[in-house]
Amino acid sequence: MMFHFLMQYNMPIKIPRAPKKQEKKQVQRGRKFGFQSVKGMHDILPDEFAYREKIEKAVRKISLFYGFERIETPMLEDRKLYERGTGLSSEVVSKQMYTLRTKGGDALALRPECTPGVVRAYIEHGLAYTFNPGKFYYWGPMFRHEQPQAGRYRQFYQCGFEVLNSNDPVYHAQIIQASLRACTESKLKQVHIKVNSIGCRQCRPNYTKKLKEYYRGKLSKVCRECVKRYGDNPLRLLDCKQEKCAPYKAEAPQSLDHLCSVCKRDFKQVLEYLDEMKVPYMLDTTLVRGLDYYTRTVFEVFIEGTDIALGGGGGYDYLSETLGGPRMPGVGSALGIERIIEAMKLQEVAPAPRVNARVFLVYMGDQAKKRLLSLREELFEAGIPAHEAFAKESLKAQLKAADKEGAAYAVIVGQREVFEEMALVRDMKNGNQESVPMKKIVEVLRKKL
Ligand code: HAM
Repeated sequence: MMFHFLMQYNMPIKIPRAPKKQEKKQVQRGRKFGFQSVKGMHDILPDEFAYREKIEKAVRKISLFYGFERIETPMLEDRKLYERGTGLSSEVVSKQMYTLRTKGGDALALRPECTPGVVRAYIEHGLAYTFNPGKFYYWGPMFRHEQPQAGRYRQFYQCGFEVLNSNDPVYHAQIIQASLRACTESKLKQVHIKVNSIGCRQCRPNYTKKLKEYYRGKLSKVCRECVKRYGDNPLRLLDCKQEKCAPYKAEAPQSLDHLCSVCKRDFKQVLEYLDEMKVPYMLDTTLVRGLDYYTRTVFEVFIEGTDIALGGGGGYDYLSETLGGPRMPGVGSALGIERIIEAMKLQEVAPAPRVNARVFLVYMGDQAKKRLLSLREELFEAGIPAHEAFAKESLKAQLKAADKEGAAYAVIVGQREVFEEMALVRDMKNGNQESVPMKKIVEVLRKKL
């Protein structure tokens, strides 16, 4: 009887769209619920993973092709690591860091960025013996207590590249190239690099002195934040986005005109290497970056015509020393994953295709459900993914689910099939069904898939 019943479903099934009323009800249910994600933190839902997967794949490919090893440091670190490393005069540390004190009295911080953590790990584990220069990449969440807005979250993901224990300009160029590739391999178009050099310990003081001299007579005309920057971190005067400060910024002395001979030579080499790799860059003499550790090359990654950075980085010759470690120059970059995804959506880049199981298990009655559990394990061992809708009882509902999933074949088992150790293999496209002995299911599916 059951067999006959199953055969009735030998027809293509149309899936009606979920009624709008039901969707509305679900939204309302969500509103009544008392909890929601914390301000600035967002859930990453299955649809977004399709974009993330594409970027992850690109980053893995880059790491493989350019030789970056994966590293992962904890999300919680000693707060002083960032205060000394990222720097107290950076907004990231002075205004945006999530800090906490443990019951044991340790002062910790949720990492606002990964670079000081990677440098710490390199020194702590003596990685210089094995990886010299150490070329690493990472992927993970960072935390900054910023005002949430488009492309700005309080928890966001970065992928980053760091080269430790070398000051060779070739790695400055390679980091820029890897950052560009992370975007272009994610299929973004019109990706551009802005690049500048802000010098080193030798030449920077002379430059900042000139910058301060220039701004001294203009302090009554610039914004309040710039007056503060003048005292705390004069380089960041060039970072101001206020309209009223723009004319002064445009006329300000440029770091490139005040580089020492070594920085000048290094920067020239970086640009030559970029030319060699056909990296599209433009000089931006006002680019200074917001973290305190940068030296020599600094850069940011943009989509042409937009002013939200997808990523950025630069050299950090003294970061290790500032943390109390050995002299160990480095260079690195980080890209904002959410920002890359936004750009992908704007440019209508297709996310990674969803990989659905091509086999769907359909049961009729408890015995059949049980039998399918062991069949699923056989399929697992055979490397054949199979999905199901075991919570649904009706055959029609299960076949509908199989269709929605885009399964190529449904394996249908009723009570009679359990008794006879048989199963029906249904071609979901044309509805044709064949009866197959249970022990041959793997073999039959293998041939069909
Ligand atoms: P950063 O410029 O502070 O550099 O951040 C890099 C990227 O992270 C930004 O360009 C942006 O795409 C993303 N990002 C930053 N803040 C947010 C936010 N609140 N919401 C969403 N995305 C954000 C660094 O973090 C350095 N550690 C880069 C580096 C590595 N320098 C040397 N090595």
